[in-house]
Amino acid sequence: MMRPQIHTPLPGPKAQALLARDRAVISNSNSHPLPLVPESGEGAWLTDVDGNVFLDMMAGIAVNTTGHAHPAIVAAVTEQSKKIIHTCSTLFPHEPLPTLAERLVKRLGGGYRCFFGNSGTEGIEAALKLARYTTHRPYFLAFAGSFHGRSAGSVSLTASSSKYRKGFGPMAYPVTHVPYPNPYRPALGASADSIGDAVLEHIRTLFKTSLPPEDVAAVVFEPIQGEGGYIVPPKGFFKALQSLMSEYGILMIADEVQTGAGRTGKFFAFEHEDMATPDIVVMAKGLASGYPLSATLFKEKLNTWPAGAHGTTFGGHAVSAAAAMVTLDLLDGGLVANAASVGGYLIERMKEVAAEFPRLGDVRGRGMMIGLEFITDPASRGEDEALRDRVMKTAYEAGVLTLSAGANALRLAPPLILDKAQADIAVRTLADVIGRATA
Ligand SMILES: Cc1ncc(COP(=O)(O)O)c(C=O)c1O
Repeated sequence: MMRPQIHTPLPGPKAQALLARDRAVISNSNSHPLPLVPESGEGAWLTDVDGNVFLDMMAGIAVNTTGHAHPAIVAAVTEQSKKIIHTCSTLFPHEPLPTLAERLVKRLGGGYRCFFGNSGTEGIEAALKLARYTTHRPYFLAFAGSFHGRSAGSVSLTASSSKYRKGFGPMAYPVTHVPYPNPYRPALGASADSIGDAVLEHIRTLFKTSLPPEDVAAVVFEPIQGEGGYIVPPKGFFKALQSLMSEYGILMIADEVQTGAGRTGKFFAFEHEDMATPDIVVMAKGLASGYPLSATLFKEKLNTWPAGAHGTTFGGHAVSAAAAMVTLDLLDGGLVANAASVGGYLIERMKEVAAEFPRLGDVRGRGMMIGLEFITDPASRGEDEALRDRVMKTAYEAGVLTLSAGANALRLAPPLILDKAQADIAVRTLADVIGRATA
């Protein structure tokens, strides 16, 4: 069985040399949370330029659905590249795009259209423009702690860190942010049980005082808040939100960029919520197993914009679409179920670790979207960013890759092919690392 193998001090000599060149030529805006320089990958394993082998528990930020270099993905993109790499799909429709769109629309139960782009941000931009175009309303609602992208439009929604906005104001879109219903850190003076109702009440008050609901085009929401800390909302919240929004004709835009494509153990994360299908659903990250692709899926009745009103040169790239077709096959062939079962197992085992180490204050998630929140002590639940960073760095030094989320959480978002034995390696390593970091 494969296991993490670290032969050199980290970063190794080759990695150090490349990192130095990178620092000298690449934009400062790139953040390198860990000094890793990958060279190749296979399944859930990543090998760096110095031959060190890591278990990949973050999958390129929840992207590599089918793992690294899945043979069926490699074969599909190779075959597609021999036929058509690019002709611009908004000018000349070609397979596999219509088939891919049909498959995605079918998953929503029919009655939707699809606009393909290249990234999560682009998918969200399309949704914002469409919501404005169809409702003729100026304002948007979104959640504190959310991440929806970094272009001028999407960053107007993003509120997970002020570093994304500092120096870029004023924002392009007028967005009112309300607290995300976080049961571990309930805002508005509420409790874990009442936070969902408190947020809804807060929105009703806004509608009465400062935000005329008839002027709100849409609310944009993450069914599990990702970058903000992998926060699972209380049961029934989004169904109740949908009901409130429907009173005023406000569109529901589900940002499934990180949660979609099976990550949470269902194809779409909103399927956990017992709600009607949202008006607009945006997918990206995991959809094409690492190839750039977004899909903005919207209700047929919203399809009123004329030809050329929105578009893209590379969006719906043929090679990405070929990768997405195989990704969907593999998801249907067992990976969604694997995300639910091995992900559920990981959550249970990490809860056992939390019972042993109280400064791992919360373990939460669905499927293979798992958040670990680190605190100074259980009584105050103080956010311990330094401890989280130490755990992330020490886990990397032990050969397990994780990634931060929010102020003090760590995310586990492995490829959906992760098996139980690999999950055990992650749990054992994290337990050891957390034990040492909190000793
Ligand atoms: C929920 C969500 N929406 C949108 C985005 C933006 O996607 P991209 O980085 O592909 O533009 C992200 C990226 O992390 C995300 O997590």
